[in-house]
Amino acid sequence: METAEIRRRWLSFFEGTGHTVVPSAPLVYDDPNLLFVNAGMVPFKPYFLGQQTPPWDRATSVQKCVRTLDIEEVGKTTRHGTFFQMNGNFSFGDYFKEGAISYAWQLITGSQQEGGLGFDPDTVWATVLEGDDEAADIWARVIGLPSERIQRRGLADNYWNMGVPGPGGPCSEIYIDRGPEHGPDGGPAVDEDRYLEIWNLVFMQEVLSTVRSKVDFDIAGELPSKNIDTGMGLERVAYLLQGVDNLYEIDEVYPVIERAEDLSGRSYGTDAGDDVRFRVVADHVRSGLMLMSDGVTPGNEGRGYVLRRLLRRAVRSMRLLGVQDRALPELLPVSKDVMKASYPELEADFGRISQIAYAEEDAFRRTLASGTTILDLAVGRAKEAGQSTLAGDQAFALHDTYGFPIDLTLEMAAEQGLDVDREGFTRLMSEQRERAKADAKAKKSGHASTEVWRELRDQGPTEFLAYETLTSEASVRGLVVDGQRVPALSQGQRGMLVLDRTPFYAESGGQVADEGIIETSSGTVLRVRDVQRPVKGLIVHTVEVESGELTEGAGVNAQVDPEWRVQACQAHSGTHVVHAALRQVLGPTALQSGSYNKPGYLRLDFAWNSSLSPETRSEIEEVANLALRQDLPVAAAYMTLPEARAAGALALFGETYDEQVRVVEIGGPWSRELCGGTHVRHSSQIGALTLTGESSVGSGSRRIEALVGMDALRFLGRERALVSELSGLVGVRPEQLTDRIAQVLARLKEAEKEIATMRQAAVMSDAAGLVASAKDVNGITWLGHDAGVGVSGDDLRRLVTDLRARLGEERPAVVAAASAVNDRPVIVIATNEAARGRGLKAGQLVKVAAQTLGGGGGGKDDLAQGGGQDASRIAEALTQIEQALGSA
Ligand code: ALA
Repeated sequence: METAEIRRRWLSFFEGTGHTVVPSAPLVYDDPNLLFVNAGMVPFKPYFLGQQTPPWDRATSVQKCVRTLDIEEVGKTTRHGTFFQMNGNFSFGDYFKEGAISYAWQLITGSQQEGGLGFDPDTVWATVLEGDDEAADIWARVIGLPSERIQRRGLADNYWNMGVPGPGGPCSEIYIDRGPEHGPDGGPAVDEDRYLEIWNLVFMQEVLSTVRSKVDFDIAGELPSKNIDTGMGLERVAYLLQGVDNLYEIDEVYPVIERAEDLSGRSYGTDAGDDVRFRVVADHVRSGLMLMSDGVTPGNEGRGYVLRRLLRRAVRSMRLLGVQDRALPELLPVSKDVMKASYPELEADFGRISQIAYAEEDAFRRTLASGTTILDLAVGRAKEAGQSTLAGDQAFALHDTYGFPIDLTLEMAAEQGLDVDREGFTRLMSEQRERAKADAKAKKSGHASTEVWRELRDQGPTEFLAYETLTSEASVRGLVVDGQRVPALSQGQRGMLVLDRTPFYAESGGQVADEGIIETSSGTVLRVRDVQRPVKGLIVHTVEVESGELTEGAGVNAQVDPEWRVQACQAHSGTHVVHAALRQVLGPTALQSGSYNKPGYLRLDFAWNSSLSPETRSEIEEVANLALRQDLPVAAAYMTLPEARAAGALALFGETYDEQVRVVEIGGPWSRELCGGTHVRHSSQIGALTLTGESSVGSGSRRIEALVGMDALRFLGRERALVSELSGLVGVRPEQLTDRIAQVLARLKEAEKEIATMRQAAVMSDAAGLVASAKDVNGITWLGHDAGVGVSGDDLRRLVTDLRARLGEERPAVVAAASAVNDRPVIVIATNEAARGRGLKAGQLVKVAAQTLGGGGGGKDDLAQGGGQDASRIAEALTQIEQALGSA
């Protein structure tokens, strides 16, 4: 049975039993504790906790999940996939244990003709938490499962929680016996390979305040209602029903392995090492595809880093399979084609996704190329020093600075006959990890703990007035200093302040926080330095008390600086205008991946591979300013996500189905984006917009910067002043400036050339005179000459070869000439054949000089060049050579 079919059956079974089908939330989800959604229940958490009222009593979903904790294990065991889909059914205070168990039984053992999954009831085993007689009894009595196939296990196996504070509860897991060829008898308690867990039914009834480990946590209390959360591993069921051995071989994954087989000419199933590589490729390509589809772009931290690692590991595995050419353009389309039945957006969005992926592969290929050079150098040095091991810090530097994977270092060093100090490498890696952990901890404790914010949030959300007004009366809900609630803030103190309502815009969606003041009628004045939203619904102001004292419960007047806000609105609307203009000029794949705006200034990162030509930049600027001149109306409307999608609104990443989303449009369909920011009312209020920069920010991503409003006009004013100053200086009209400067530069170049020729002639004309100054040292004719300042290496070479020829071959002769070029010494040494016969090598002599000059050098026996840092020691260097000759 195809994976897509299992998913269809799942949804239709639960829809038929009164569950509302809820689409998968994106992998990137607004939860500070999670990098990615890792279970089907994540989007429903507020309902379980009673923080929000669910719109339905029962729901079902097939949720996209990513877990990357076990990334190193992928392909080695057959149970780890980084991307997977979790089928779930959820009850919010509706049915409980008996309902959940009965539904599960019906679906898995129901016949395939009638829409079930058709598992043989005799292969089904169940586990329950020790002491949960109720669940065991339902399995035995209601379902009729023989008691020897119901096992009781401890907290580690049969209590589910999120691993972080949140809802949890005892669970009952359902296993399928794959048969004695897969392992010993005795049920899941004995062997979890033979008995494969396919479904976990969680009886969610408690809220956990602290989670130290799977078996060590504090239960803060009962949830407001008894709920059901279940998770069935779609890939696991697929591999059982498709009669294959593991999740890498199912219909949604295997075609990538087949393509990799074609490309590499190797076959899956013949070599254990290669098999791991094939699986890594198939798994990681799919996970990367799904992450990029949900808006993640490769980067150096957080989610971006996970994606980068996945893509690079896939590419690297292909190289280990012997494929040197670009691999992703061959593999990604295959993955997209098998996944699009369930995720049609992959097709629509593939232009953008593939652009990001291919650029990342290219970047990695460059890394590999430069890392290889560095590695070769390090290996060469180690060999020269007679070592058989590459030092751990060098392997670490390659890894840390060049992103060069350690396995690659190992392999390439081995090819050249060297070991790598793995222990040293591992130690440095773990030191670095410790540092990172300590950093993260420090960061966390620097902020108030989420506990404090939760407590304040429980008093209700902050009423957000930023869209309606700039000033408002409000009362102080809470004051926080260093993560602790305090009763008051006094003059000079800095702290955080929560109000019941606020007109201040909290930083989000790229827009910086408002500035302004908060006052009391008794003369207390606070300056607002920052405004953030640390937990959903709660707005926190960072304030400094300029005068007076503020106590909890006080009434205040909050006032946003109106000039600040006008400019913030200009910048944010300007960002939307630039985005729309970019897409109009470059096409729809030029999608924004991040933005930042503050009064007067904006920047926007977008998916694009090459730099923009000056013409393209002008065109974008023109389209943007035309939109300003047309005075397009700006409007915000609330709608559901599907409605927003249908209207073509952009930036749908990270939004969930259940919320009303805010869509800001400029000129109707011309620009429609999901956005919570503040905006001007008409595009002309942006005033003016001028692009000031365009640059690369990592692979496949460019950044465009612009100024708006008065800042744009001031910028243009400064440029105009500059042009008029320059034209005064050069003495032409502004429109002739370019031609004139080009002329001047060309003349300058000519003149420099002329000077060089003359200098060379001067240097050479000295030659005859110099020969006379040659002296005898130890039977060798020695001529050392300080040519002064500015004689290039080329000219010095010409000079010494000319002098050597003039000195003839009768006697051994050594000639050296040096000069200071840009304050740095350059020295060239030549030897004639007779000198070389006496063992005098230019390459060695130049090293003697270079040591004194504080540098290095090298070359052949007859001619060599060196340099250094300290030009004041040229005379000394020449003397050193002379001395060396004396003892030759
Ligand atoms: N939330 C449960 C799990 O992830 C169903 O296993």
